[in-house]
Amino acid sequence: MKVAIIGQGYVGLTISAFSGEYFEVVGFDNNSKIVDQLNKGISHIEGVENSTLQNWIKAGRYRATSQGSEIADSDLVVIAVPTPLTSDRKPDLSFIEAACKTVGENIKKPVLIINESTSFPGTLRNYIKPTIEKYSNSQIEHLYAISPERVDPGRGDYNQKNTPRLFAGLTPKASSRTREFYSKFCDHLVEVSSPEVAEAAKLFENTFRQVNIALVNEFAQIAHSLGISVYETLDASNTKPYGFMKFTPSAGVGGHCIPVDPTYLAAVAEENGAPATFIRRANEVNLEMSKYVVDRIEADLEGKLVGKSVLVVGVAYKPNIADVRETAAGPVIDHLRKRGAVVSWHDDIVKTWRGEISTPLSEAEITVVITKHDSVSEADIVASAPYVFDTTGILRHANCEIVRSL
Ligand SMILES: NC(=O)c1ccc[n+]([C@@H]2O[C@H](COP(=O)([O-])OP(=O)(O)OC[C@H]3O[C@@H](n4cnc5c(N)ncnc54)[C@H](O)[C@@H]3O)[C@@H](O)[C@H]2O)c1
Repeated sequence: MKVAIIGQGYVGLTISAFSGEYFEVVGFDNNSKIVDQLNKGISHIEGVENSTLQNWIKAGRYRATSQGSEIADSDLVVIAVPTPLTSDRKPDLSFIEAACKTVGENIKKPVLIINESTSFPGTLRNYIKPTIEKYSNSQIEHLYAISPERVDPGRGDYNQKNTPRLFAGLTPKASSRTREFYSKFCDHLVEVSSPEVAEAAKLFENTFRQVNIALVNEFAQIAHSLGISVYETLDASNTKPYGFMKFTPSAGVGGHCIPVDPTYLAAVAEENGAPATFIRRANEVNLEMSKYVVDRIEADLEGKLVGKSVLVVGVAYKPNIADVRETAAGPVIDHLRKRGAVVSWHDDIVKTWRGEISTPLSEAEITVVITKHDSVSEADIVASAPYVFDTTGILRHANCEIVRSL
């Protein structure tokens, strides 16, 4: 069976790597630089090894392309393209539309089309199917299904194989073909009664995290105002064996999922006349954390940020990966610069970002830790400045006078 995977990023390439063992895979991506690299067997995604790609390429089971015509004889299509927000923070389905255009214009026989991109309930039924039909300009009866991706990049214990996978087809035949496909490389398949339930479940999972992160971020501010340690309090709450789940505070939420997916849920809720005030407020609390962090630093320094050299450690949105999407490091740096600080940053995984390059981990007046990769030592961070503000909570164990924590 030949499988076309539209989008060769975190999700699409990961699926390509897993399905290459069983199927002939064509990875379609409109970024020709990525395509060239992939065809040389070079992966740009943590968790997808060069050796895996090279094996599949040698065996004739993987190739990347930017040519729509190369997906024409596929039997199954997986869509894994970005679903970001527009500049006014509304769902942006333009990448989905472009993917549907590629599929519609090139596939002229009935196939199974599975969407793995995260979007609001109704996207498969009311947007993807009609858009593909519009571009295919014919009456081809494709099968349609959704299987929202749950991959957590950089994670060792859970992967495509052992993370339960939700799915639902628009028809029973679409569901059973979807089950057949994923059962080759996923241990646990969970079929739900409609695509809308699967789409909503994915959004709710990430909204659950967003709301709990906002709650702990708000609590960090309350704890500080009370003069108690947020971390010690959380550890104390966490001794309760039921009814509590520990989240930790941070400078904000990053990545594609947590800052974005809840807004998809809120948008569809409001369109249907259901208020999403709680979700909206959680988003605001998380977005406000970067300013809170800089306020705390400024207060510690008695308002003297102008001209101070500040080193921001870790600009990726989470440890041990190079992903900087929606990273809290961005607004923290912007607030620091607006208040006159001279900011550089160190991230030995990201290396270049926003037209700037990572500077060595040394010699600043102030160090602010946003993300701590395993490759960076606590001792080096502590030695980098006479004042360190740690938003990760990791350095609180350093038991060192110069370290302040959230
Ligand atoms: N990254 C994650 O951890 C994660 C987890 C679960 C779900 N998701 C969801 O999966 C979807 C994809 O996310 P991602 O992280 O893989 O994004 P990504 O940015 O890593 O990769 C997307 C790829 O799609 C390509 N692309 C964009 N438009 C295209 C088009 N029209 N045709 C072909 N290729 C196109 C881009 O060049 C890029 O290589 C999103 O909806 C995201 O919310 C992501």
